[in-house]
Order: sequence, then structure tokens, then C-alpha cells
Amino acid sequence: MKKLTASALMLAIAAGAAAAELPAYLDKTKPIEERVEDALSRMTLDEKVKMCHAQSKFSSPGVPRLGIPEIWMSDGPHGVRAEINWNDWGYAKWTNDSITAFPALTALAATWNPEMSAIYGKNVGEEARYREKDILLGPGVNIYRTPLNGRNFEYMGEDPYLAGEMVVPYVKELQKNGVAASVKHFALNNQEKWRGNIDVTVSDRALYEIYLPAFKKAVIDGGAWTIMGAYNKYNGQHCCHNSRLLNDILRGEWGFDGCVVTDWGGAHDTREAALNGLDIEMGTFTNGLTSESANTYDEYYLGKPFQKLIESGEVPVEAVDNKVRNILRLIFRTAMNPDKPFGSIASPEHYAAAKTIGDESIVLLKNNGILPLQADKYKNILVVGENATRMLNQGGGSSELKVKDMVSPLDALKALYGDKVKFATGYVSGPAIYSFQMPIPKNVTDSLFNEATTMARDADLIIYIGGLNKNGFQDSEATDRKDYNLPFGQDSLINALIDINPNVVIANISGNAYAMPWLDRVPAVIQSWYLGTMGGASMADVLSGKVNPSGKLPFTFPKRLADNGAHYAGENSYPGIETDPQPVDPNNPFAGHMGVKPEQEYTDDILVGYRWHDTKKIPAMFPFGHGLSYTTFKYGKPTVSAKEFAGDGSITVTVPVTNTGSMEGKEVVQLYISDEKSSLPRPLKELKGFSKVSLAPGATANVEFTIKADDLKFFDDKAHAWVAEPGKFKALIGSSSTDIRATVPFSFR
Ligand code: BGC
Repeated sequence: MKKLTASALMLAIAAGAAAAELPAYLDKTKPIEERVEDALSRMTLDEKVKMCHAQSKFSSPGVPRLGIPEIWMSDGPHGVRAEINWNDWGYAKWTNDSITAFPALTALAATWNPEMSAIYGKNVGEEARYREKDILLGPGVNIYRTPLNGRNFEYMGEDPYLAGEMVVPYVKELQKNGVAASVKHFALNNQEKWRGNIDVTVSDRALYEIYLPAFKKAVIDGGAWTIMGAYNKYNGQHCCHNSRLLNDILRGEWGFDGCVVTDWGGAHDTREAALNGLDIEMGTFTNGLTSESANTYDEYYLGKPFQKLIESGEVPVEAVDNKVRNILRLIFRTAMNPDKPFGSIASPEHYAAAKTIGDESIVLLKNNGILPLQADKYKNILVVGENATRMLNQGGGSSELKVKDMVSPLDALKALYGDKVKFATGYVSGPAIYSFQMPIPKNVTDSLFNEATTMARDADLIIYIGGLNKNGFQDSEATDRKDYNLPFGQDSLINALIDINPNVVIANISGNAYAMPWLDRVPAVIQSWYLGTMGGASMADVLSGKVNPSGKLPFTFPKRLADNGAHYAGENSYPGIETDPQPVDPNNPFAGHMGVKPEQEYTDDILVGYRWHDTKKIPAMFPFGHGLSYTTFKYGKPTVSAKEFAGDGSITVTVPVTNTGSMEGKEVVQLYISDEKSSLPRPLKELKGFSKVSLAPGATANVEFTIKADDLKFFDDKAHAWVAEPGKFKALIGSSSTDIRATVPFSFR
């Protein structure tokens, strides 16, 4: 081992030593792999092992003797989380960590605009850089399988193509700040119930076609520097040290050269952690302790027990060396990157970015013409609903944010319409507490209901702003929703309001679909999301027409829960079946990790979301890709460059789209491919392209889609290969997954 003492190093740097005299690992002109090998060659086994696990709740140590810095991490993904205590989950109560809350990732996906992802990554990256983070723990690309999953709001919807196209610019722009993305949770973490120990069985087809593609794009096209393992099991092995997912697929098939970080408390076995592709272990509760202390970090699976296995020769030294190589590469890309910018926080530019993304994300689900609001017509506008004022950055789990500023929908509506806006909460949900829902006394519920319905009598327009929130069992980590209806008595409240005054515009906020038993009784519905700092302004601007809505649903709203593919087959498919009613780890206090040994089979297979509804002919309440505008778009006759292609060739389909209304607007033109005949069953159609165009009234854009063999492929699990079978296909061009405006037949030879 080459030795360089810390004092010698400091002397060399202090004396302004020429680059040539610096050890190779400090010389940024040298290739990164040479620097990695040089640093590795100087480290003791003890130093190497220490790098493979946490030293605090959100950091891992570097090598102080060599001047190699710590790695600092933060949640993610919608803004940079407030500082957490060194040894427990409490907030550190700093006064300089208030940030911009950006729209949640469902909202980003609903923009269907990769430019918005680039803006998002750049801006959140600047905040993470300013806060001196090396890893931002996000974005999340787990597929939306069931509307009950408490964490869907953190992900990018039900379609692997959409999620994949949207995640890449986020990762690239974030990392330009010298901050690594940690794309999570790899993989099959599609529900929160039993997330710590549920064992998922899924076919290879569904794994490769549905659950992996967005991760693959984040790694290969986005160049993600870290991946976070998932809590659950796959094939009987925890995902944070799952040999198939991490060794075979991530590193073997995709050539990932970054770091795999556990989810907090996601490691369970030293030998597997040593050999199965994991690099950094975080958040483990050692010895059943509810909080950490300095000495327990070394007891982690990748701490002393790992060192022992190496010293005894049971695990080769190469196992730790490979991890340290990945960690050093990460440090050179982030903490020791001399070219990284300084960043900035809660700036007007970041607020503007959050507002632009929010504006493009809101989805107009239904409109009989009441929207945009003609405010002059109304003397008394009553806003009802807790989400008109609630701080929705609170709760939800690890994505909770401490904001510097927050514009609520009520603030923004009052700013637009002044004193004619009145407010009644209507219902109350209690504080946002992790994994817990506080019971609300009946007299409180009744009095809020009565207040709202009484005020409704004097109103000539009601804007209802409710939905879900970040309480336990709502849109929140560690728990799933208990049912598909809106919580806290909202359906009865909405119906009672409509009985008094049918002019009720619904403007709900959530990260999930929900039942709408009152849908036929209301003139308009907009779907908004957890939009963060500027969310209220985006909502008010869409209601007033200052912004023409252009969001499209990134997931289906089924009419009933049973219509969703994951729920159709019953408990075995969701939430899974308890096979052994013994607590797995009675000493592990981490919420969500307790419980029985559940197993689950994804019987919906490749038919997730609209693939299920389409193929099984089960109409949705609102289909994937749906979203209206205040203007109208006419799709013209498409042209195609050729009627067939082969091999590496392609064809281009062009469709003219015209704004036929009187307001400037944006339309997301969607391309789905349908395979007429195939040797393996396929969904009726699959999204393979989309383009968001902005059009002035009367203007036309020619939207072009290029179709290649890759767009026709399915995963043949027996051959373990992607296959494009020769035959007839259709290109379906539409305004949603069910509103198809043009069909172009073509063949692949
Ligand atoms: C979550 C991760 C998060 C981590 C650190 C875990 O409970 O699943 O998404 O990044 O905590 O807060």
C-alpha cells in the first residue's frame, strides 16, 4: 500500500505543490479510473469497510486521513428535505434549510413534457448543491400499479415509456450540479403495505416490459450515479441485496458503474450484502435499537460483520474493493468535483420554475363550459375544502419539505377575486402524522359540515378544493390507502353542497385516483397535484383561465377499485397473502417493516393500468392520457413516409394538429402502437411516443413520430430477448389512450 500521511498531504497542498507532485487521486487531470485505483491502493481494510456504511442518519464517511470527504445525502425528490439529527429521525431545527417545494413527481409526469423535467432537475439540483448535498434521494420511478399505493404521488405514473422519457432529463440536469440522483426504489416497490418484507412474484415479461424500463433509461440514457434499492423482496431475496436485480440486471445487463445505496433499513444479511451488488448501507437499526449511536454504525451488516468475513477469507477482498471503487467514483463525481457550481436556494427563478411545471401539470378532467371562470358573473364565490389552505408539504413521509414560502389556493383565489371569495373548511383531517390517522370527534365534523352547507346557500359559485392529503393511510409513505373513496366524509359533503347549489366546480389535489360518485352532478372537475410552493397560484390561474390547462393523466382513474388490474384477482395480487403470521423481526421498530411474511403475485402481469382496461374492455372513469383544454384541437389526416420497414429502418408518421378554438393552448399528441398478431399475448396498444405542442388560435403544427423496430418489441421471456416480430401493426395517434384521432397501418418485415 502506498502511504501518504495527512500532514504530508496538507503540507503539499499548502505549499501549492504542482499538479504533477499531487497523488494521482487528487489530480483532476487524470482519468477517473486511475484516480479510483490510486485512492483504493492507499486505503486500509478498515477504511474501506467504513466507506460501505453510514456514519449518521444521512451521511457516510470518507477517508479523513486521505482528505477524501464524506458523502451527504438528502431526500428528495421534490425539494431538499430539512436537516435531520445525526443519530435519529428528528429535525435538527436549523434556520437556514427552508427551500422551494417543487411539484410532486406525479405532477411532473402529468406535464408530459420532458422540457419540464429538465427545468425540474436543474432547479432542484441547484438547491441540493447550495445545501451541500452529494446525493439527492430521488427521483422515484416505481410503476403506479394500484390507486391504493400510499407513495404513488412520488412516482411518475403507470406507463414505463412515459416514466422513462420523463426521468432522463431530470437526472441529467440534476447531476450537472455535481449532485447524484438516487433513482428509487429498485425494484417492484409498488405498494407500501408490508413494504419491508413482502415477497413479490412477477413474470419476466412484466418485469422487463413494465417495471424495469424507466430504471434502465435513468441508468443508460440519464447516466444516474446512484440507485436506491427497494425494501421489499423479489424472488425470496431483499431487493437491496438481490443478486438478480443488482448483479445480473443492473450491473450485468445495463453496465451500471455507480453506487447502489440501500433504502434506510433495507439491508438484512451480511453475506448477501457483501456479494450482491450493494455498495452503501444506510439506516439499519442495529441490535433492535430505535435510534443510532456512534458505535452502532460499525455494527451494520456492511460494518464489522462484513470485515470479519473478509478477514476470514469467506468473502474475497475483491468484494469490498469493488464497492469502494463505486463509492470513490461517486465521490469524484460529486463531493470532490472541483467544477461543481455553488447553487442557490428559494430564489425567484426556482419559484418561477415550480410555477411553470405546476401550470403545465393540472389536468382538466371535465368541463361543461363553466371554466374558465367568468368571475364577473358571480357576486359570492365560496371556496370549500381543507386543501384550499392546508400545507401539503407536511407529512407524506421522507419527501416532507420545510418550505420558505407557500402560496395556497385560497390565497391565490383571493388575490384574483378579492373579497367576494369566502371560505369554509367543510371537513377536517387532523395533523399529518406518519402511519397514523387521528380520529376526528363527530361534533367537529358536524359543525364544519353545517358551516359549509349554510354558507353554500348564499353563494352563486362553489369551488371545492379537497382530495387526499399526506396523512397516514392517504398519500403517505409506509401505509396504503384503505379504500378508493375520498376520505374524511368528502363525498357526502360534496353531494350536500350540490343539493344546495349545483354550481360546484371540483378542484381536487391528490397523487392518486379516487372514486367520484358525484361526477355526473358537477359541471367541471380539475385534477391538481401536490404542487409545492407555487401550487395555489397554478390552481387559481387554471381556474381563471390565465393558464390554459394542458396536463394529461399519467395514470388511469378506474370507475371502481375492482376494475383495476391489480385488484381484479383479489388478495393474492393485492395486497398479498400472509403466509406466516409470526412477526418477522419483533425488534425492528421501523414503521412498515413489522409484520407477517406476506407473499404476492402480480397476476395482472403485463396488463398494468390502461393496458388492462383496454385489453379487458373495462372502460375507465378517466383514461390514461386524458386531459381537456379551454381550446379545441383538430387532428388532420396523417401521412406516412412508407408503408413498411425492416431491420434498422424506420418510418415517420406526420399528423397536422390545429388549434381550432380561440385561446392559445398546448396539446399532448400521443402515439400508441398496436400489434395485430403476435406469438405471445400483448396489450391492445402501448404508448411509444408523445409530443407537446403549443399553438396559437388557428395555428397548425405538423407532429412527427419516427417508429423503429424497438417500438414494436416485446420481451420474450423464454429467449430472454426483446423481439420485433414481422407482421402488421397500427400506429394510433390520439389525444388520450382512448380518444384515438387517426390510425395508420404499417408492416414490419
Ligand atoms: C424511504 C426512502 C427515503 C429514505 C430516507 C425511506 O424510508 O423509503 O425513499 O429516501 O427513507 O429518508
